Amino acid sequence: MNKLQSFNENGYLILENFNSHEDCDALIKRGKELSDEFNFDGHPSIFHTNEQSRTSDDYFLNSGDKISFFFEKDSFDKNNQLKSDLFHSLNKIGHGLHDIDPVFNQFSRSTQMKDLANELQLNHHVIIQSMLIFKHAKIGGVVDIHQDASFLYTEPQSCIGFWYALENATIENGCLWAKPGGHQTSLRSWFRKKESGGTELHILDDTPYSMDGMIPLEVKKGTCIVLHGSLPHYSLPNTSGKSRQAYAIHTIDRNAVYPKENWLQIDFSSLKGFI
Ligand code: FE2
Repeated sequence: MNKLQSFNENGYLILENFNSHEDCDALIKRGKELSDEFNFDGHPSIFHTNEQSRTSDDYFLNSGDKISFFFEKDSFDKNNQLKSDLFHSLNKIGHGLHDIDPVFNQFSRSTQMKDLANELQLNHHVIIQSMLIFKHAKIGGVVDIHQDASFLYTEPQSCIGFWYALENATIENGCLWAKPGGHQTSLRSWFRKKESGGTELHILDDTPYSMDGMIPLEVKKGTCIVLHGSLPHYSLPNTSGKSRQAYAIHTIDRNAVYPKENWLQIDFSSLKGFI
């Protein structure tokens, strides 16, 4: 079975030794540098009250072509002070790393990515977002079960994710979980902007996700996991003493319709593929 057949059958594809350890380390190093350069002005993207969540939404909605910083849910105390140092309070950086930062750009558009895109026949796919996900030791929180196509909604559906393990991902430090063939299901929701401002999870199908057959995708540093946009997946909190950094990019078909209600505001015509 070739890569495309395997991907179509399982809804995901695990490619070991896809990136060198040096390339993974370069991203980890660059992520730390960006965090150190981050001039935190007291307006984090995670707040608790309505007024504050509006600030959060704007920061979030406008992050498509920026390098923006998002905090772990429990990283602030009741006085909105960080409980830990800034770096270890961060959940992720996004969503324009692949275009803005040369190190991330090179990683996202490597020779092996160009070859893989060809093998998966993604000739019209463009990169729409990127994220450096920290999942810090003892701090990194749960990511509830979801389908990526809910967050990168197109008609017809075209979202495909590439998740790169920058460190070993194990059950203990919060690896991904998914079910082989799990992508053969309906899209449950569409995360989009509300007319009144802010965002909402619009329900398309309220059938609960089936958790039967979910397996941990434990992978070594340097592995790339390709994820079908319809594949339900999740990760558990990192309860271990080891961080689980990962980098992810998402792609969509440039010929698909990208509704204006989508949360991620982007200049669609400016999106580029793997070249
Ligand atoms: Fe996801």
